[in-house]
Amino acid sequence: MCGIIGYIGLKQAFPYLVGGLEQLEYRGYDSAGIALCADELRIQKAVGKLSEISFEAGEGTIGIAHTRWATHGKVSIENAHPHTDCGNEIAIVHNGIVENYRELKACLIENGHTFRSETDSETIAHLIEEFMKRGFEFEDAFRNALRLLEGSYTILAIRKGERKLLGARKGSRSLCIGIAADGIFPSSDVLAFLEWTDKVIYLRSGDVFVADDNQTVRIYNMAEGRAVTRPVDCITCSTEDAKKCGFDHFMLKELSEQDETVLRAIQQEEEGVRSICDTMRHAFGTFFIGCGSSYHACLAGSYIFSKIAKVHVNTVLASEFEHYEDFLTDNTLVLAISQSGETADVLDAVNAAKRRGSTVVGIVNREGSILTRESDALLMMNSGLELCVLSTKTYTSQVVLMAMLAYALADKYEEGLKKLGGLYLDIFNLTSRSMRDYLEQLAELLYDKDHIYLIGRELQYATALEAALKIKEVSYIHAEAFAGGELKHGPLALIEEGTPCIVFVAAENKAKILSNAEEIKSRGGYIIGVAPEREAIFDFWIKVPEAEELNPIIQIIPMQVLAYELAVLRGLDPDKPRNLAKSVTVS
Ligand code: F6R
Repeated sequence: MCGIIGYIGLKQAFPYLVGGLEQLEYRGYDSAGIALCADELRIQKAVGKLSEISFEAGEGTIGIAHTRWATHGKVSIENAHPHTDCGNEIAIVHNGIVENYRELKACLIENGHTFRSETDSETIAHLIEEFMKRGFEFEDAFRNALRLLEGSYTILAIRKGERKLLGARKGSRSLCIGIAADGIFPSSDVLAFLEWTDKVIYLRSGDVFVADDNQTVRIYNMAEGRAVTRPVDCITCSTEDAKKCGFDHFMLKELSEQDETVLRAIQQEEEGVRSICDTMRHAFGTFFIGCGSSYHACLAGSYIFSKIAKVHVNTVLASEFEHYEDFLTDNTLVLAISQSGETADVLDAVNAAKRRGSTVVGIVNREGSILTRESDALLMMNSGLELCVLSTKTYTSQVVLMAMLAYALADKYEEGLKKLGGLYLDIFNLTSRSMRDYLEQLAELLYDKDHIYLIGRELQYATALEAALKIKEVSYIHAEAFAGGELKHGPLALIEEGTPCIVFVAAENKAKILSNAEEIKSRGGYIIGVAPEREAIFDFWIKVPEAEELNPIIQIIPMQVLAYELAVLRGLDPDKPRNLAKSVTVS
């Protein structure tokens, strides 16, 4: 949620820090700040979007910077990072929550410390100061402070007069270090330094590092109590992925890439896929877990598994998974699905599964993310960077990968790959200019509505849920999905003259869902059909090909386009919906 970047090296830190913050903007934030270390420590903080903030260039070859997404304390300059100690000599940036900050703060105040913000994070700067007051060197004071912190975190710290940048990572927060010829870039996200280097060290939980201006990085693991070495990896995503490439928004660019990303998702090592299937065959209970869109992909996946492989899986929201812990054994399989590989609820669920000895298979997009390292086996989505806060291309890739596993489980791997690869042209057509123009007409009919309802059955129910999420998060129109069969159990009360209802039709359950549409129509509802054929009941028809068990991959695409057009018509930024962040690293 928060973004962190630091620099220590031979050049001026300021341009790198500002450039890094710009790259982190996609994660969503409400304030930002920079600390530069020359003879003095110089801090600048501001509230708002980076495009509205102008930091003054300053001297210094060491610095840290932060974009904040408020959790503890309102959005304000005082609460923005970096935070400093009483003497304004130590500056820290922090992502995470100091769970025991109230006790620590009370103790520090008793010892004479004065706090300026309402944040939990400020405690860290004062703790380091307190240990230094007691005679510890900066490095040791930092480590001692870490020992007192409860919760997971990423922290960077600098101090006036020290030619060092310190950092640490624990639990579900990520921290990586970009290594370039003229500097070192610790950050919460490779994207922050991708323009300057493709060499990266991914730190593990409990790692503390010290970088100095001789370009050396020393790493110590607190849990192991010893110095450790971590490999230097090469980043494979390209800087092109981080550019809009002529599109007005990342959302449009990313949803338009799906013809290719679907093909990239199926490029997997067959052996790896088969070995996951073997584990699944022998597992006593399989859980698909995820949050938001990734959860909807799990739900679509569970229907696909029933249909293709005749296998039952449990789908559980990662945030609800703790209630299922008692049913986990060392023979349970947990398939954890996450674009970012950083979502705290998913990582907490994975840790719970690992504590019980269950096997964890990750389906992840971001290379180097925590979930890639916590999983026993892994399928990468290969979608490239997704920078719009909304997931579009990664949603379809998730469903593709689950369908691929289901085909493999049913011994129909080759046939499945052919079917999945064959979606290419249909997806291309669904994101074409003419389709967008057509959906813009629909958006014009809907953009001033207060409510949109969506219905579907089985696979199409998962699509209805995902489409409703897309519409609400980007256009702020209330959109709610129901299983067709549930209408009479309550939702029909919401239908009035002209209420727009999107109905997802598939050959298999056409009669039933059209009869549900009839229930809505007879109460005055305006019916928008997403279907292979025009039906008399439709007031508006979105033509999609019939893709049977792969319908969730096809039918969601016009809904992503519609959500995009609604946001644009309502004058909203589709890439950065209010109150939302790309990586949800708090549970
Ligand atoms: C919706 C969306 C979110 C994410 C959710 C999980 O468009 O993007 O609902 O799907 O926050 O994120 P990941 O997949 O990174 O775990």
